[in-house]
Amino acid sequence: MGKGYYISKHLATAAMVLAAIALVTIIALSVVYNREKSKNAAKFSKATTLPVFPTPKTSNEPWDKYRLPDTLSPQYYNVTLWPRLVKNANGMYIFTGISGVMFTCEKKTDLILIHSNKLNLTVFKGHHAKLTGLSGVTAPAIKTTWFQSETQYLVIQLEGKLKPGKDYWLYTEFTGELADDLEGFYRSEYMENGEKKIIAITQMQATYARKAFPCFDEPGMKAVFHITLIHDRGTTALSNSQEIKNVIIDGMAITRTIFGPTKRMSTYLIAFVVSDFTYIDVRIWARKKAIEDRQGDYALNITQPILEFFEKYYNTSYPLSKSDQIALPDFNSGAMENWGLVAYRETALLYDPRTSANGNKQRIVTVVSHELAHMWFGNLVTVKWWNDLWLNEGFASYVEYLGADYAEPTWNMKDQTILYDLQSAFAVDSLTSSHPLSRKEEEVNTPSEISEMFNTISYSKGAAVLKMLSEFLTESVFAKGLSNYLKQFAFGSSVHSDLWEYLQKAVDQTPGIKLPYSVHEIMNRWILQMGFPVVTIDTRTGNVSQKHFLLEPEAVVDRKSEFNYEWFVPIKWMKKGQVQDQLWLLQKSAIHKPMKVSKNEWVLANLHVSGYFRVNYDLGNWERLLSQLESNHQVIPVVNRAQILDDAFNLARASIINITLALRTTKYLLHEREYIPWEAALRNLNYFFQLFDRSEVYGAMQAYLKKQVKPLFEYFGTISSNWTTIFMSHIIALSLACSTGVEGCRELTRSWFKKWMQNPPNNAIHPNLRSTVYCNAIAAGGAEEWNFGWQMFQKATVAAEAVKLRSALACTKVPWLLNRYLEYTMNPEKIRKQDATSTIGYIASNIIGQPLAWDFVRANWDYFFKLYGTGSFIFSGLIRDVTYRFCTPFELSQLKRFQKDNAETGFGSGTQALQQAIEKTTAKIKWLEGNKEPVLQWFLSESA
Ligand SMILES: *[C@@H]1O[C@H](CO)[C@@H](O)[C@H](O)[C@H]1NC(C)=O
Ligand SMILES: *[C@@H]1O[C@H](CO)[C@@H](O)[C@H](O)[C@H]1NC(C)=O
Ligand SMILES: *[C@@H]1O[C@H](CO)[C@@H](O)[C@H](O)[C@H]1NC(C)=O
Ligand SMILES: *[C@@H]1O[C@H](CO)[C@@H](O)[C@H](O)[C@H]1NC(C)=O
Ligand SMILES: *[C@@H]1O[C@H](CO)[C@@H](O)[C@H](O)[C@H]1NC(C)=O
Ligand SMILES: [Zn+2]
Repeated sequence: MGKGYYISKHLATAAMVLAAIALVTIIALSVVYNREKSKNAAKFSKATTLPVFPTPKTSNEPWDKYRLPDTLSPQYYNVTLWPRLVKNANGMYIFTGISGVMFTCEKKTDLILIHSNKLNLTVFKGHHAKLTGLSGVTAPAIKTTWFQSETQYLVIQLEGKLKPGKDYWLYTEFTGELADDLEGFYRSEYMENGEKKIIAITQMQATYARKAFPCFDEPGMKAVFHITLIHDRGTTALSNSQEIKNVIIDGMAITRTIFGPTKRMSTYLIAFVVSDFTYIDVRIWARKKAIEDRQGDYALNITQPILEFFEKYYNTSYPLSKSDQIALPDFNSGAMENWGLVAYRETALLYDPRTSANGNKQRIVTVVSHELAHMWFGNLVTVKWWNDLWLNEGFASYVEYLGADYAEPTWNMKDQTILYDLQSAFAVDSLTSSHPLSRKEEEVNTPSEISEMFNTISYSKGAAVLKMLSEFLTESVFAKGLSNYLKQFAFGSSVHSDLWEYLQKAVDQTPGIKLPYSVHEIMNRWILQMGFPVVTIDTRTGNVSQKHFLLEPEAVVDRKSEFNYEWFVPIKWMKKGQVQDQLWLLQKSAIHKPMKVSKNEWVLANLHVSGYFRVNYDLGNWERLLSQLESNHQVIPVVNRAQILDDAFNLARASIINITLALRTTKYLLHEREYIPWEAALRNLNYFFQLFDRSEVYGAMQAYLKKQVKPLFEYFGTISSNWTTIFMSHIIALSLACSTGVEGCRELTRSWFKKWMQNPPNNAIHPNLRSTVYCNAIAAGGAEEWNFGWQMFQKATVAAEAVKLRSALACTKVPWLLNRYLEYTMNPEKIRKQDATSTIGYIASNIIGQPLAWDFVRANWDYFFKLYGTGSFIFSGLIRDVTYRFCTPFELSQLKRFQKDNAETGFGSGTQALQQAIEKTTAKIKWLEGNKEPVLQWFLSESA
């Protein structure tokens, strides 16, 4: 999927990341920037329907195993579905369907297992299916059929055996609920011109196709699909392939739309939509009103260039005859790469030039690029099983920046990977509770285990590690190997070592490129062991060494690694502004003579941040880097400036360097005008805000930051013609300036909001500044401002605008308003289900809202768990958000208590997040013991 869990994932993340900085503005910021990488995260869906999965019993029956046996392989399906968009006599929305699958018997068997979940199957002569042989073969009679609910199979036992090499046809008829549960075939409701509209849509990844029709629901079980949809006249039906016939059924107000056969594809990429949406060409579909308002134009503008880019990059033409993209009002992940019919949240596809910010545009271009990248990598060639999901998602998360950069060459999109992938991955991969990118096939079985794979490690670490690979191979060798791999495995599936093999071949065919080891050997160390190294360079001796980087220095790593937590590290570097030849660190430590430098030179390693590791230096080199930053920071590439900040703060958190050294890396920001270093600094300072905003350090820290940001605020105030032309870094300037109390800032934002309240139809606030302005005004105001914001939220017709308001409403400092807002998240009429957990996350990032949100989640854990189910990706984000600020022994004991109290209900896909929260809180408590005083002293002396 799109990095959407990431929405839940990402938006929430964003909210959290920036949470603490003077609560107020930061929340707003996060919305803008947060490309919901949590996109990654956001993607994830809830599994309302899934029961709690007990650990498999020790039974050895095939139907107790989560993986299908290798006895049968599907060839094609004929599926006809008829969703009813009005309630039936029992007050329920349903769909009916008929489905047949032709499969070949590979090994003699008297058992058919096919996935089916929550479908009521028609009974024929006592059995739930009919079986016939094809081409003159006689099928054995059915002995008995039943449902194995835990593994979600329809089990069919036969009187005799199926014959290898022969084809059979399995036929079923069924009824399913068209629920509003955001998974499988489901319904979404929205209002248009005062009228309630209902549409039927799908989300199959990872294990929900079985909820729409019985199928062999594993990614490696590719087949051709002949799909037919029956729907009311006046609505349009869409699916993966082109419609070939519309048949009006006499005497009934319905139409039958028949689609051409798909290519051979995986079940999780199937999609159906029945709606009255309209479209603009290359076919961007959305609500009528959104299309009328031209909100699809931007997506239309960039789709063609991005497709062109990927055709060139993969050296393979677009595999299908059509491309539809559709914006859906209720969608759990950020986006989903259904082959030929890509689905998006509205905020990821629709752009309204009058109300949307630049950040919204950036999000659209990266998400569209991500999903279109999957049309080849993921859809044409699919990973055989979910344990290799990282390859699929990491790859798309890496190349999305290449496609986006091609469509918007002036935005420096490629530089942003370091904020949204590398640094986010470092944050979780430096904990002992992290896990290797690639898991063993047999470790990933149940739907909730599959769901848990959609995480920051798979998306962001995957992207960072593949980027490193592409950089040390060179992009042309990487692309050549990739293109041969795609040709070899087209319409089939593969495992990660297949890709290594084709990249190695490309290396072998290219004279002049030399690797110290094979692609396999190098990459195994990055994907089969968790974590990453900190490389330490001693410029006095030229000694270079590596060590597994852990945020908690005394933490015990339980997970064993066959490589002893050592890596083969490609090091690009520069010496006093001059680029040097790449080095490989292949041992624990080695002398690299060229890195021994004289007293007036400095070394900067991980140039352009092409590698997935942190860097530390001897003190002398740190001092020389700091003075270079203060005298002329432009000599150091912009992404490295951001990385120096991020490395220094994290080394200090791990007690490897002194915290005052890290704080000193922020002094040069007085001269910094670029977005990426400021954003990196804010994320790290944010960590301090949440540690200290309840202590006396806070005042001194505010005063220091105010001093640092004032020049930026004044500079942008001038060049932006009084904040009328706005770019990303301007938003940081404004929001940080307001939150630290720079003169003029709060007055400015408050007056803008007042004007809007006086004349609601006319909102003159610049779209790029709306998040910040709304948040500040609501934080400074009371019930009147809040209620106005709520009214505007309910009336918002542009999704991006609604998100800004929804997050700004969490900025209020009035406890009863926050509590009422929390209650709203349990009422889908007020806050859509897809938005409930991210709204709680926004509230938790507010210093006053945090304890309220924590109490609320604890009190209602059962409710959320039942609502979203164990498979849901959503829990990890929710747990992370509400515990983000925890740093006291009391809070730690509350966390442990929570873990104990709910052991019975469980935490589903949030199990890991809870473990991480405990680990992070423990580390913070320890760190504070030795560092609070020096931090206070440093801020006091610098703000004086
Ligand atoms: C499945 O549908 C295709 C296309 O409509 C048709 O040619 C084929 O005969 C159908 N197969 C069966 C077994 O009904
Ligand atoms: C399926 O059958 C169960 C049990 O009879 C019933 O409660 C449920 O409503 C049925 N579902 C549909 C979609 O008809
Ligand atoms: C789409 O492209 C057209 C033609 O280049 C341009 O005029 C228009 O402003 C673009 N629309 C958006 C929303 O970027
Ligand atoms: C860090 O540096 C400060 C100021 O130079 C010093 O007072 C403090 O003792 C140092 N802390 C450690 C842990 O070395
Ligand atoms: C900005 O606003 C100030 C004060 O209102 C005014 O004096 C100045 O001319 C304005 N500058 C521009 C470029 O509009
Ligand atoms: Zn994806």
